[in-house]
Amino acid sequence: MAKKIRFMETVLRDGQQSQIATRMPTSDMLPILKTMDEAGYYSLEMWGGATFDSCIRFLDEDPWERLRQIRKIVKNSKLQMLLRGQNLLGYKHYADDVVRDFVEKSIQNGIDVIRVFDALNDVRNLQTAITTAKEAGGHCQTAISYTTSKIHTPQYFAQLAKEMAALGADSICIKDMAGVLTPATGFELVSRIKDATDLPLEVHTHATAGISEMTYLKVVEAGADIIDTAISSFSGGTSQPATESVALALEGLGYDTGLNMDKVSLVAEHFNQVRDKFRNEGKLNPKVKDTEPKALIYQVPGGMLSNLLSQLKEQGLEDKYEEVLKEVPKVRADLGYPPLVTPLSQMVGTQSLMNVISGERYKLIPMEIKDYVRGFYGKSPAPIDPVLREKIIGNDEVITVRPADLIAPQLPKFREEIKQYARSEEDVLMYALFPQQAKDFLGRREDPFYDVPVQKVSVKLDLA
Ligand code: CO
Repeated sequence: MAKKIRFMETVLRDGQQSQIATRMPTSDMLPILKTMDEAGYYSLEMWGGATFDSCIRFLDEDPWERLRQIRKIVKNSKLQMLLRGQNLLGYKHYADDVVRDFVEKSIQNGIDVIRVFDALNDVRNLQTAITTAKEAGGHCQTAISYTTSKIHTPQYFAQLAKEMAALGADSICIKDMAGVLTPATGFELVSRIKDATDLPLEVHTHATAGISEMTYLKVVEAGADIIDTAISSFSGGTSQPATESVALALEGLGYDTGLNMDKVSLVAEHFNQVRDKFRNEGKLNPKVKDTEPKALIYQVPGGMLSNLLSQLKEQGLEDKYEEVLKEVPKVRADLGYPPLVTPLSQMVGTQSLMNVISGERYKLIPMEIKDYVRGFYGKSPAPIDPVLREKIIGNDEVITVRPADLIAPQLPKFREEIKQYARSEEDVLMYALFPQQAKDFLGRREDPFYDVPVQKVSVKLDLA
């Protein structure tokens, strides 16, 4: 019997987040959902990450309504979302009452699978989301934020997978947000994790560095159960490799993909038109389709490379680009090798820029880096050198408890602050996650004289 491999389609979340800055409106999705549901995907990733923020900030759409509309049509494939552990969809830790409420409401409104990760792989930051997702009847997939360093060995990740299984994870994901997982390491990692736990294993990578198809082949050979791909229209470059190409290649090797390739072709035809529309409007930057092996050389995610370059350009300092790229791994080492995923990717990037531009390392230090060193994001993967710690935070205390243990319940305050415009608990959560954007969105909805318009300007890319 043919060995099985299953697919998660990312076009509705990571695919469009990686290539058109998450600007796809629900109206571009609805006409093709029935076909997608008949195509045999294991799951459709369609919520979380930057989708929520983009809906209210740029598209004047209610993200909860998008979820409900998609759920109405999709009956066979699971609906999957991405959650940043105790940060939910934001950049700071929330109290447990907010995390519980958000996870419950996500599942009640239609989510099947919650993929939860912590930027530092501090599993304490996953616990509330895991427990709540399971209690609410959902499937909780815990994701390992993959990165490279002298401490991030296959043994380290296999141990992490064991800890996640012990906390109640239903499945495990190797989440390579930077696209730096090589075929050889991918094979070893999957083999080790499969030895360490019996849980289903999914692999997520990005095509940025040009090696993603090879990596998928090797992880599938090693026994991965599910891989993440994007329909060809929004594939390649900063996104995932193409669903059709990977599926056809694996079928040729004797694998059962479960995909109906005729239906998948119709999905591609639809999204080709959507892509062309964005391209014609100048909203698809051609650079997102580039191959960038520098990501492998510097171990810096492609999205972070372009963010750094545009920040330098704004200040007329493009000539510092190589110097900043070389500074990034040094700052990462100084800070105990945090994986470069949101929000740590932005924080490490900013510190590296400041170190180079100011001409003196750690002369200028952003508040977020100080909070990180104080332990407010969780435990750093490796210890931070005491001399550097003192330079960054002086004699301030470093906390060792789970950061959220220090945060009092927040929902009562949020409910009170937004009571003028909130009509549901979902509205309150929208406000809890993105206070200003949600207030403007709900204000426009509830009050015909509310005069803050929908934003048009661009923001930096999140990396997930
Ligand atoms: Co991703």
